[in-house]
Amino acid sequence: MPSDDLTITDNRTGQTYTIPIKDGAIRAIDLRQIKTAEDDFGLLSYDPSFENTASCRSAITFIDGDKGILRYRGYPIEELAEKSSYLEVAYLLVNGELPRKKELEEWTYNVAHHTLVHENIRKFMDGFHHDAHPMGMLLTGIAALSTFYPDAKNVTEPDERRMQIYRTIGKIPTLAAFAYRHRLGMYYVYPDDDLSYAGNFLNMLFKMGEIKYKPNRVIERALDVLFILHADHEQNCSTNAMRSIASSNVDPYSAMAGAIGALSGPLHGGANQAALTMLAQIGSKDKVWDFVKRVKQGEERIMGFGHRVYKNYDPRAKIIRRIAEEVFETTGRNPLIDIAVELEHIALQDDYFVERKLYPNVDFYSGIIYQAIGFSVDMYPVLFAIPRTSGWLAQWDEMMRDSATRIARPRQIYDGEPARPYMPIGKRRSS
Ligand code: SDX
Repeated sequence: MPSDDLTITDNRTGQTYTIPIKDGAIRAIDLRQIKTAEDDFGLLSYDPSFENTASCRSAITFIDGDKGILRYRGYPIEELAEKSSYLEVAYLLVNGELPRKKELEEWTYNVAHHTLVHENIRKFMDGFHHDAHPMGMLLTGIAALSTFYPDAKNVTEPDERRMQIYRTIGKIPTLAAFAYRHRLGMYYVYPDDDLSYAGNFLNMLFKMGEIKYKPNRVIERALDVLFILHADHEQNCSTNAMRSIASSNVDPYSAMAGAIGALSGPLHGGANQAALTMLAQIGSKDKVWDFVKRVKQGEERIMGFGHRVYKNYDPRAKIIRRIAEEVFETTGRNPLIDIAVELEHIALQDDYFVERKLYPNVDFYSGIIYQAIGFSVDMYPVLFAIPRTSGWLAQWDEMMRDSATRIARPRQIYDGEPARPYMPIGKRRSS
């Protein structure tokens, strides 16, 4: 008679154990009863990059990597990209439902009225070199906010968490724009709350001498859709960092500084910058074959390709590819897109990539759009961090409401030295 459990026989002792299965998983702690002696610690599960470990239960984002499916709170990403706005999606991620008109108005009002930062933040920004990487500046700015809002430490209070969610979603574009303007040696542009979320960001980045900045509608909408696509992605590296750091009950700004650090890595959110640099280095379509050869020899990686979860085309990459053509109608065609399309075409037909199920991911085409809009290449991870803020905060709030949440503290397999006596300096061997 089938039953929802595993029967495990430990061949070291001949003992048999029954381990319950729930939602397609076993609880790792249930392995601890499997011992060879009373004083045995019990079995651990070893999963160094969490390849097969669920760290939490979450209702926010669903991904089917084999089918290339991505849904926020059950809504397909394709529909949200076509019909929604970033702020509406941020509300959906945090609250679990699409907002009604009055709820969206209140949410928009609350975010828009938390876009200003303390004037002292300017002093932090002014302290950076002109060529400081903007992700380092953003990380610093977010960490600094934890010192301006001591009430953020009340992480167990839902109303306090809500206030920090408004503040952080509101202020992250301002911090990013201040970093961008500092590197150009330009004055800081303050938020214009009459504009949309993406429109105001463009205003703080690109406003020059005009009295009121008017965003290009095509670019404003393209950026808003790109923000939707980057908003959340279940337990990715930076979200895992957010949850792990926040599990100590530290304030969300300190946790988010860690998440921004994780996202900066070239294997994660830094891949959009690395992908653009890679395409520029390839230089022309006729050089793609040589590059692919070097990848297959293990000398290079196609940045913006491959994914731990997607073993099919990243649905976000398909949408970004379409947005690129729309943006080019306004900005002019970025020739790097032809190299990217050729690279994708060759890779998707080559056994090396097919066998490893390597497809374009969210970072493959996004940098080409950002370059066409006029962003410097090291701003691209910042353009990932801004929208991912709502995902990080939604995951944080969900974790803080989950009664199963305890401080994250993994175990290890110790394979170091056994106990040994202190060695006088004259008798030590060279390490
Ligand atoms: C993001 O997790 C998320 O959800 C992340 C993200 C999100 O929204 O938060 O989707 C955003 O981070 C997207 C990924 C951006 N990173 C890149 O584009 C960097 C390039 N891609 C990789 O380095 C890699 O594919 C990862 C990091 C994305 C996934 O790494 P895994 O799952 O650890 O896979 P792996 O490194 O073990 O590779 C498996 C095999 C290896 O070959 P073999 O050793 O078996 O011969 O595939 C090869 C790798 O060499 N491989 C690649 C490759 N990615 C993997 N070969 C060439 N080019 C690549 N891009």
